[in-house]
Amino acid sequence: MTEYKQEDGDGHSITYLNTDGYWTCTFNAPQETAKKIREMANFKCRADDVFICAPVKSGTHWTWEIISMMFEGKAETIKRSKIENMIEAFSWEALENLPSPRVLNTHVHYSRLPKEARVLRCKFVYVLRNPKDLAVSLYNHTKGITAFEYDGKWENFLPLFLQGKTEYNSWFEYVLEWEKEMSTSPNLPVHLVYYEDLKENTLREVRRLGKFLGVEDTGGLFEAISEKCQFENMAKDKQKYLFPQDPIEGFTFYRKGDVGDWKNWFTIAQNEYFDKIYRDMMKSSKHNFRYQI
Ligand code: A3P
Repeated sequence: MTEYKQEDGDGHSITYLNTDGYWTCTFNAPQETAKKIREMANFKCRADDVFICAPVKSGTHWTWEIISMMFEGKAETIKRSKIENMIEAFSWEALENLPSPRVLNTHVHYSRLPKEARVLRCKFVYVLRNPKDLAVSLYNHTKGITAFEYDGKWENFLPLFLQGKTEYNSWFEYVLEWEKEMSTSPNLPVHLVYYEDLKENTLREVRRLGKFLGVEDTGGLFEAISEKCQFENMAKDKQKYLFPQDPIEGFTFYRKGDVGDWKNWFTIAQNEYFDKIYRDMMKSSKHNFRYQI
């Protein structure tokens, strides 16, 4: 385990935790985080665990809040952070003490997931977001979270993202790994949610999620959850619960919550460069991301 400084070619660098070539945040405890990343395959699961799996900045907080409210059976803001249920970030002893069903979450690649999750047929909720908005969101996240010590420019961050040199390495490999697994294991209990679909029609997606998870929609629960989880409500209600330890001054996980914000950031040349790399990397992919709704 080492601290790794990813240079951006313009005199700025991002500080990552480097665990055998896998780059993550230190989560304030580098040794422990590295141990968890290494031993993730052995994480102890329960058959009724739900795993939210998502590339970082795909809408993990949103989905976690929705599913947690469903299991609570009420549309009330969850008074804790999704980080407290995140397997690479939080103490495994604390996760062991959570009541069932646990709504766990992680950004690690499919091949790194706990082995028991597959053996016990835990349910996976797989969240994806168009990679242009995701890259912009990740840039702001990397600049905002003090542990990364980054103050570089967007134009120098984008190439790092496209080369798989940002947090959790390659977005492309993450998506392709899952896609391969889903096509070769059609019985895998996985439900795919696109961020853009959640934005377009939250209630429809909440209903689909409820069906997958076996949660009943009683007394208008799903409609109430869809409403309560809207960006504006979450940005207002959730800030005080976001950080189980010290808050990061001036930073929030609720930045903008839009589809199409990338258009405010990408130049025409950056967009062409992005599209070219996307075409090359995703030749075998059937995903059809929406960049606006
Ligand atoms: P932006 O940075 O584009 O605003 P994650 O939870 O995986 O870290 O993803 C964070 C992104 O999801 C941020 O995107 C955040 O604003 C957005 N997000 C969080 N909650 C949301 C909600 N309730 N509705 C819409 N977007 C949400």
